[in-house]
Amino acid sequence: MTENKTITFFVDGKPVTAPAGAMVIRAALDAGAVIPYFCYHPALKPAGLCRMCLVEIEGFPKLQASCTTPVTEGMKVHTDTARVEQARKDVLEFYLLNHPLDCPICDKAGECQLQNYTFAYARQNSRYREGEKRRYNYEDLGPKLFRDMDRCVHCLRCVRFCEEIVGDDNLSVFKRGNETDISIFGSAVVNEYALNIAELCPVGALVSKDFLYKARVWHLKKTETVCASCATGCNIYMESKDQVVQRITPRVNPEVNDHWICDFGRLNFKHINSSQRIHESTRLEDGVPQVLEMDDAVRRLAGILAGAPADRLGLLITPEATNEEIFEFRRLAEQVLKCPHHAYGLVPPEEGKLDFLRSRDKFPNSAGARRLGGLSGLGFDGLRILEMAEKGELEVLLMIYPHSVSKHPGGEAFLGRLAAALAQVQTSVVIDYLQSKVSGAATMIIPGLTHAEKNGTMDNSKGITQKLRRAIFPSPDQLSEQEMLIRVSTALVEKRAGVTLSASDPR
Ligand code: SF4
Ligand code: SF4
Ligand code: FES
Repeated sequence: MTENKTITFFVDGKPVTAPAGAMVIRAALDAGAVIPYFCYHPALKPAGLCRMCLVEIEGFPKLQASCTTPVTEGMKVHTDTARVEQARKDVLEFYLLNHPLDCPICDKAGECQLQNYTFAYARQNSRYREGEKRRYNYEDLGPKLFRDMDRCVHCLRCVRFCEEIVGDDNLSVFKRGNETDISIFGSAVVNEYALNIAELCPVGALVSKDFLYKARVWHLKKTETVCASCATGCNIYMESKDQVVQRITPRVNPEVNDHWICDFGRLNFKHINSSQRIHESTRLEDGVPQVLEMDDAVRRLAGILAGAPADRLGLLITPEATNEEIFEFRRLAEQVLKCPHHAYGLVPPEEGKLDFLRSRDKFPNSAGARRLGGLSGLGFDGLRILEMAEKGELEVLLMIYPHSVSKHPGGEAFLGRLAAALAQVQTSVVIDYLQSKVSGAATMIIPGLTHAEKNGTMDNSKGITQKLRRAIFPSPDQLSEQEMLIRVSTALVEKRAGVTLSASDPR
C-alpha cells in the first residue's frame, strides 16, 4: 500500500502541512495565505508566466514564482515582506503601462483580477509619460467570444485550457515580447467548451458574446444549482437579475465537472423567457381553447383520470423530471390509479460520454428515474404506450414534459408520432413548460416549471444525488409538477374515501 507523503513547511512563520510535490502557491493558499496570481490555475499545468505570485523564500537570493516552486521540508516562505510588496507593485506597473483603463465599460469589472490587485497592491498614480500606448485591433473570435487584447496580461490560460483540457490548438500565441498576441488560426474558436475561456481569462481580454453588456456582475444573484441539460449534472451558478437568468457559470466540483461546463449547458437557459413557454392552462371545448385557473385545471385533471378505467389509461413522464416528481408520479400511477401503463421515458436513455464531460444522455435524471421508478410499470418502454394510443386502446393519456421526447435520437419523429396518435385518444393532457407538436394536439394543457424555477433533486450519470435550487420565481399562480401530482393524488384518494381533507391550499 502506498501512502501519500506529506511535508511540513512554513508560511509567514506558521507551520503548514502539504502533499510532497505541491507547489508553494497551492499549499499556501490552502493554508489561508494571500498570494495574487494571473497565470496560475489549479486545473492547468504550471506556467510561471505572469510573475504576479512572487514570494520570498529563505535561502533563495531572488524572489521565486510560487506557482512553479515545489514545497520542500522545512522551507520558509514569506508572502508579505517589503520586497514582495514592492515586486507586486512593479509587476502591476508593467501590466498597466499599456492598459486602456476602461474598467467602466469592461464586462469583467467587478470580477477582474487585475482590477482587484490594482486596488490592493498597485501605485495609485501612473508614472507613464510616453504618450502612445500599445494598441491592438478588436477581434471577433466567432459566435462565442470577443477579443480585446489591449486588456490582456499574457497569462496564456486561454491557450493552455484549449490545449490541455479540450485538445484544441485553434487558439494560439502569435508574435513575441511586447507584440505578443492571442489569436486564432481560421475564423472562430468553435470548440464545445470555448466559453470557459471567458471565466479563465483573469481580465476582460476574452469575453462571452452572449453575456456582453447584459449586466454588471455585482448586480447578479448567484444560485447554486445543477445543469439540467445532460446526465453529467454539472454544478453551476445560475446568475439572475430582476428574476431573469443572465448567465450560467461553473461551480467547482472535482467529482462531477471539476472547473468546467460545456457551452451548450451554459447557454441553455434562453427557453425560460422564450415565446415557446406555456403560460396558461387551457382546455379544448368544441375545438376552441378555453383558459382555466390553475386550481380548476388540476381539479379537472383529477376528474379525467378518475373517469377512465385503469387499463385504458396511459401515463408518461420523462427523465426531465426531478426525483420528487418521479416519486409522486409513481405513487399516483401505482397506488392511486393502479394503472399498469405508465412509463418514465419513450425509449431507454443513451449511455456513455461524448467527451471528457458531456454525456450522450441528454436527460438530466435518467439515473433517478431508474432508481425511483424505472423498474415499475413499463420502465423506459413508453413506446408501448405510444403504440396503444396509435391503436385507439387508450381513453386518457397524461404526458409530463413531452417536448423533451425530442432529446432521444430520432426524437422529432417520436414527437410527430405522439402528436398524431392523440387523434385516437379521447382526452389527452399535457403538463409541460414548452410548447411542442404534442401540446398542440392535446385536449388540455397545464403549464409546468423550468429547472430554474423549482427546487428538487436529480441523480447524475454517476448516481450522485444533487440539489436543484430555484434561481427565479415563477408567477404566483403556477404550481410545480410535484405539487400538481400531490394535489391530483390527494383529490382522487379523497374522492374514493368520500372525504375532503385538503380544503386548505397546500401551497
Ligand atoms: S486573453 Fe486572457 S487568458 Fe488569454 S493570455 Fe490574455 S489575459 Fe490571459
Ligand atoms: S456537460 Fe452536460 S451537465 Fe455539464 S454543462 Fe454540459 S450539458 Fe450541462
Ligand atoms: S501565477 Fe506564478 S507566474 Fe503567474
